[in-house]
Amino acid sequence: MKRLTRIKTLYRVPPESGQGEVDAVSDAAMVWQDGKVLWSGPESELPHEFSTAEAIDAGGDCVIPGLIDCHTHLCFGGWRGDEFAARLEGASYQDIQAAGGGINSTVQATRSADIDELTDKATAALADMARLGVTTVEAKSGYGLNREDEIKQLEVYRRLNDTQVLEVVPTFLGAHLVPVEYRDRRADYIALLCNDLIPEIAERNLAHFCDVFIEDNAFTLEEGRRILETAKAHGLGLKVHADQLSAGGGAGLAAELGAVSAEHLEYASEADMAAMAEAGTVAVSLPIASMYLREPYLPARKWIAAGARVAVATDFNPGSAPSYHLPLAMTLACLNQHMSPAEVLRGATSHAARAIGLENTHGSLLPGYQADFAMIDAPDINQWLYHFRPNACLTTFKRGSRIT
Ligand code: NIG
Ligand code: FE
Repeated sequence: MKRLTRIKTLYRVPPESGQGEVDAVSDAAMVWQDGKVLWSGPESELPHEFSTAEAIDAGGDCVIPGLIDCHTHLCFGGWRGDEFAARLEGASYQDIQAAGGGINSTVQATRSADIDELTDKATAALADMARLGVTTVEAKSGYGLNREDEIKQLEVYRRLNDTQVLEVVPTFLGAHLVPVEYRDRRADYIALLCNDLIPEIAERNLAHFCDVFIEDNAFTLEEGRRILETAKAHGLGLKVHADQLSAGGGAGLAAELGAVSAEHLEYASEADMAAMAEAGTVAVSLPIASMYLREPYLPARKWIAAGARVAVATDFNPGSAPSYHLPLAMTLACLNQHMSPAEVLRGATSHAARAIGLENTHGSLLPGYQADFAMIDAPDINQWLYHFRPNACLTTFKRGSRIT
């Protein structure tokens, strides 16, 4: 049993409260055992039975639930710095993709990388993320776009769960793009996804979720429906890259099919916003992608007013969001999505947990929750997200053990 004392502010983030109600406790303590929180609250109310637990001094800093990055494309070969420069000179993300670059060029680099190389690269990213206070990461495939290389990416995630300490929640994104070799026979690629890959991945438990990129130049709404319905029938949870660059109706489809989340959503309609709120589908905002693509940010005030849960994630990938700095995404969400630091904290903890189906065990520091937490060098989250620094996280704990 261990006890954390002298916490200036402890954010317990109860899962069922409103977006900005994070249950901040001043002068707090927390007790955990076997990787789970036993007690948390004001230090003056610490029950006697816990007073002898081995103590760690939080030194007047604040403690938050471990951050959850609920949307990343963690495993990929290469980078795309030259496209970044081309975009700065006026080329559009969609034009670059249509010319065979963009996602296509990362597909080539990922296909030619071997599994060890991909695992090492992702391991290094996860180690940096842990130092920033991140304890759980959702990670998508989608840069293989054939059986062998999609499964290779999912195998990387399986290995990462065996070899390093952050939890990696795998999502199958074979429907990221129709690969060039199927350009003139896209129905065959969709058949490959639905008849072969989804059944195999579900059977081998290689992914918890299936995601589809519904967009011009990617998949149509009807194609997305077929793929997601197939995934659902095979027991996978659903996610949708929806309405990122244009209004494609993906958010409404996510709500209709009971997806756990829909992501991006910059162009989602108000009707679809209401449908997602009603269905309990989490709206995952990705402000780093908006910044890099100079696209609109998620109008979070409208989403929250509509009753939706808004999560905040990085979208880490080599194209639209080449950064895994979740605290940066959080500060951007404050500034550009007009969210308070408290709303954003919930967006990267409890609501992020819900977006990957872990809301009953992760993202809160109430008793019974996994003891994943980060100590932040600031008295409270207002100071933390306002005074942006390379890293304000002092230490990160995963399942009750110190990992950084
Ligand atoms: O979430 N929107 C589609 N996929 C990624 C970008 C992938 C890439 O550019 O490599 C995204 O932004
Ligand atoms: Fe994405």
